[in-house]
Amino acid sequence: MPAISIQTAIPGPRSRALMRRRHAAVPRGVSHAVPVFAASADGVRLTDVDGNVFLDFAGGIGVMNIGHSDRRVVEALKNQAERFTHTCFAVAPYESYVTLAERLAVITPGSFAKKTLLVNSGAEAIENAVKIARYATGRPGVLCFEDAFHGRTLFALSVTSKVSPYKAGFGPYAADVLRVPYAYCYRCAYGRTFPDCSFACVAALEDQFKRHADPKTIAAVIVEPVLGEGGFVVPPLGFLSELASVCRKHGILVIADEVQTGFGRTGRMFACEHEGLEPDLLVTAKSLGGGLPLAAVVGRAELMDAPGPGGLGGTYIGNPLACAAAHAVLDRFESGELVRRSEAIGLRIEARARAWAQQFGIVGDVRRRGAMVGVELVHSRETKEPAKQETDDIIRMACERGVVLIAAGTFGNVVRFLTPLVITDDELDEGLEVMTSCLAAVASQPTAHGH
Ligand SMILES: Cc1ncc(COP(=O)(O)O)c(C=O)c1O
Repeated sequence: MPAISIQTAIPGPRSRALMRRRHAAVPRGVSHAVPVFAASADGVRLTDVDGNVFLDFAGGIGVMNIGHSDRRVVEALKNQAERFTHTCFAVAPYESYVTLAERLAVITPGSFAKKTLLVNSGAEAIENAVKIARYATGRPGVLCFEDAFHGRTLFALSVTSKVSPYKAGFGPYAADVLRVPYAYCYRCAYGRTFPDCSFACVAALEDQFKRHADPKTIAAVIVEPVLGEGGFVVPPLGFLSELASVCRKHGILVIADEVQTGFGRTGRMFACEHEGLEPDLLVTAKSLGGGLPLAAVVGRAELMDAPGPGGLGGTYIGNPLACAAAHAVLDRFESGELVRRSEAIGLRIEARARAWAQQFGIVGDVRRRGAMVGVELVHSRETKEPAKQETDDIIRMACERGVVLIAAGTFGNVVRFLTPLVITDDELDEGLEVMTSCLAAVASQPTAHGH
């Protein structure tokens, strides 16, 4: 039995009516990947208000690693809601926040003593990680990467590297930010090839320290172990450790932004584990809360304790409903089965994507770590000119054919797969078949180049 069931034109009449109201009531700055309104969701299946059933390959942007409406999450929420929904951890604390901090300290990389700050969103966690790093080191500077995405609040945006739509018009941005190229080997900033390059991008840091900034003024480097919004760019293994060793030499802290890579997405609980990297501060969010707004900064105890009482906080930080959901998420991960499944899902997507690369000249690069798979589309394999319009067409067509997909990349030309890790092989194959048909349709368009 296929999972997908499309009953109406996409969007259907109810979605269209809601979209008209939405345009009248909600600012256009909030955008949507697909034009259909959700009515319910279960596992990998998302049903819209017109009764169409889609396979959700976006998972609410990597939030639903354990699937929609997980039974344990729903039960935990009901139980917590009946007890209390808010006291404010800064007014009357509650045990579930403390237990969650204890559990996160155990499952995150790093064999040192840790403490955890819970907040509401990835961006808020980034802001706090930087505040803690600055306070603890007494240094103002932050080193970050081109093609990075760390969120939409003002410091997070200062270390984000995509002008439109994120940065244009929203400045001024924070000072003391130093930006260097990421290990984006498909588009290497230095025109080099791995492994002959010997990580020229990391070696270039010392050059930056001579030309642009005294390393003694830099508090931390903030790095995504795999670029998320920047295009699912998978650095060669060794990149993070090389980076960490240059930073450590200069007393620069390492902040790993695992907001999108965490909770099994890359075939390990956290992506840093692929290299045995123990970041000083680890930022996580998205799948931590199983759909509830929750994020965390987990770090070396002595760094986390640097700011004084009241220096860190917020009304809703570590809300009890979100904590209850997160405990259910951690329970779900306990057996290790979902993390193992992540690698199998990724292998299955990659096998199909390699076949697409044989068949369709528009496929420029296929990248993967665990189930985090990106397919970069280009007009020509020689010029690597980004195929943004074709990527948008594929996302639209996939939705019309029953798959919710999203794009990524500085050039908007990467199709990214963020399927819940509870997806079955049949559901995965059904969705990938849709993707094949969309690629074929785009390849046969007269406007498509390079094939
Ligand atoms: C790597 C990374 N960091 C930070 C963020 C910001 O998280 P939030 O949207 O919860 O503020 C995101 C969101 O996509 C992300 O992918």
